[in-house]
Amino acid sequence: MKILIINGPNLNLLGKREVNVYGNQSFESFFTAVQKKYSNINLEYYQSNSEGKLLDKIHEVGFTFDGIVLNAGAYTHTSVALADAISGITTPVIEVHISNVFKREQFRHHSFISPVCVGTIAGFGLDSYILAIESLLLKETENINSPS
Ligand code: DQA
Repeated sequence: MKILIINGPNLNLLGKREVNVYGNQSFESFFTAVQKKYSNINLEYYQSNSEGKLLDKIHEVGFTFDGIVLNAGAYTHTSVALADAISGITTPVIEVHISNVFKREQFRHHSFISPVCVGTIAGFGLDSYILAIESLLLKETENINSPS
């Protein structure tokens, strides 16, 4: 099973950025622990601050990977292009947010990508990524168990 975690703008600053909202762990150290926990799956990670690079990555893996866990950061609230990219691929995408965006400013309540993602997980800190991976694993188990 191949899963790619994609982080969008400013998420390279996790651990240093607004620690009261996003916590003090860097994504790199979290990702090392997650790879250990899920040593049976092929888990990769990509981060970019550039919308175009995020689109390119989604296009690159979106027909071969089994799942994408996407924290699009602020592009969540602005990007029709990301929504179109997700619509255009076959790999299921789970939308993730570290913070509970619905407890925050009004402009964070709207997501352009929610309608084209399988589901959204928000507000569980970095565990939001774990819950997204678990949801993809559950889907895979369902597919194995359901008669074709
Ligand atoms: C975020 C929430 C977004 O509103 C914000 O712009 C981010 C991070 C989150 O993970 O909580 O950069 O996606």
